[in-house]
Amino acid sequence: MTKTPTIVEESSARHSRGAQRSTASIAWRFVVRLKWQYLPLLLSDYTREILRRKYDAVATDMAYENRASGAAGPLGKLVDRLVLNFPTHEGLRQRLAIVQGSLKKEITQRLQQSDGPVRVLSAPCGLMRDVLGCVTELRKEPALDMTRVDIYGLDLDASGEVLPEAGRRAEACGVAVRLYQDDLFKPQAFQEVLEQGVRFQVVNCIGLTPWLDLAEVRQLMSFFHDRVLEPGGMLIIDNFSPHKYAALAKDLEIYSRYHDAAAFVDMLRECGFRMEKAVATANHVNTVHIATAIANS
Ligand SMILES: C[S@@+](CC[C@H](N)C(=O)[O-])C[C@H]1O[C@@H](n2cnc3c(N)ncnc32)[C@H](O)[C@@H]1O
Repeated sequence: MTKTPTIVEESSARHSRGAQRSTASIAWRFVVRLKWQYLPLLLSDYTREILRRKYDAVATDMAYENRASGAAGPLGKLVDRLVLNFPTHEGLRQRLAIVQGSLKKEITQRLQQSDGPVRVLSAPCGLMRDVLGCVTELRKEPALDMTRVDIYGLDLDASGEVLPEAGRRAEACGVAVRLYQDDLFKPQAFQEVLEQGVRFQVVNCIGLTPWLDLAEVRQLMSFFHDRVLEPGGMLIIDNFSPHKYAALAKDLEIYSRYHDAAAFVDMLRECGFRMEKAVATANHVNTVHIATAIANS
């Protein structure tokens, strides 16, 4: 196993930190820097939510939901539709479809191949749209014993609004989930679960790596491999690629990391995974990696 370099700033701190500038101050900066083309985007409800929230779980889920609204009137709604159609947001929806498809396939195969439980950890879980959508679909299959599927969700939830909403949504779908408010880099409540010897067959880690430096990605992959997954367990983890609107993200003070694709795959291997496949979104904004945990020799 390779050595993990020192991490300078904790990812939890990065996530807890709110917007550094107000929307008005960002708008003013666009004016003085002659980036006037961005100003109409502020008519969009979604743009203003992104500025306030910086692609947290709620803002991400709004892209999944894809419903334009218009607090600023019909023109605002039109601009909102435009913003929701940006490649980044389209890519988030394409990623959701890939993740749900992978989860469905993985859970189905494991239910068919063994009589044991299929424990699924979604971390960070956000509002759990991916897992809940998948379980809701699979429950329509009479041949599958979904009572053997145990769902766990973990999220930092710095604002305190994510896990309660995830719980409400799970309840509305009639899906039992165990939720943990925890830091993946310093787990406490979830650590107790691991100390009881609980291991997972599937880990779903979506939307976290753009917030992490590469050293943290390594730490995360090692944690999932060494502490969370059983040998043969499956990790689903994504990585973003630089794209047309990446510069805009920087102007909007949105922290995002685009990890080198080859380095990301190498790291999975170095952390003890066998790569099964890497599926890019149709617009190449994001790639979902599916990798099997190999037993430590
Ligand atoms: C972009 S959201 C993605 C959520 C979800 N997977 C989805 O696709 O909607 C990123 C999430 O990572 C969580 N997060 C950030 N740092 C974390 C950490 N160190 N431990 C656990 N969760 C973290 C945030 O609270 C946030 O809900």
